[in-house]
Amino acid sequence: MLRGRAASGFWKKCMMFDAVCVCLAAGAAFSSAGRRKEILQSFSGAAYGSGTEAGAQAEGEGLAGAQEEKKKVALTFDDGPNPEYTEPLLEGLKERGVHATFFLLGSQVELYPDIAKEIADGGHLIGTHSYDHVDLKNLSDADAARQVGRANEAIRAATGKTPQYIRPPFGSWKDDLDFETKMIEVLWDVDPLDWKVGDADTVVERALAEVGENDIILLHDASESSVEAAFQIIDALEREGYVFVTVDEILFD
Ligand code: NI
Repeated sequence: MLRGRAASGFWKKCMMFDAVCVCLAAGAAFSSAGRRKEILQSFSGAAYGSGTEAGAQAEGEGLAGAQEEKKKVALTFDDGPNPEYTEPLLEGLKERGVHATFFLLGSQVELYPDIAKEIADGGHLIGTHSYDHVDLKNLSDADAARQVGRANEAIRAATGKTPQYIRPPFGSWKDDLDFETKMIEVLWDVDPLDWKVGDADTVVERALAEVGENDIILLHDASESSVEAAFQIIDALEREGYVFVTVDEILFD
């Protein structure tokens, strides 16, 4: 399983020793496995989703033990914050006691910093999705690094923390950026194409048909149907014994 790779001792060692070159070599070796959910580079320092922080959070809620026994799954939301749909989503997540991961656009964060702050205050994990949703591979190294840096700065300004995780738009990462950004790339396992479908039932059906333990589900807090689908997915998977975690808990536990 792809996430098994991310969670292996080898990767943890990479994290510990900042063994960038080794990580990259291994990443290249594993990349033929298909959809990647790999760590491109180790990272240190206080930021979203550090092991200590995630651990303390889980412990604080008394969930640490329960989560180890249950099947984990992660919901992720791209392209926000959205002025119409993010807050209703946050409310529904709170009602269900679920933490998700949000990959935010720097440009949207600058427009709606209060919503970004609400996401952070809700205990969700925040990553970056570039500044204005560009394909980083089409940019020069310097411009791509600027896209990431500017988004990270907007997120830091709004929430007080610098993101550690990145989901590149279109899943299109630029390998040279490994050396520039020191971020961890997070892709996905389940993509119900919610942005295209526009119908909650179909999105739910697709997601439930594909999902398995330790999967990362891709959604967007950009439409009512996606938000509704997210709630239905949560309710259905919780009935099946899943527990919802943020992506760091899938990648590193
Ligand atoms: Ni996107």
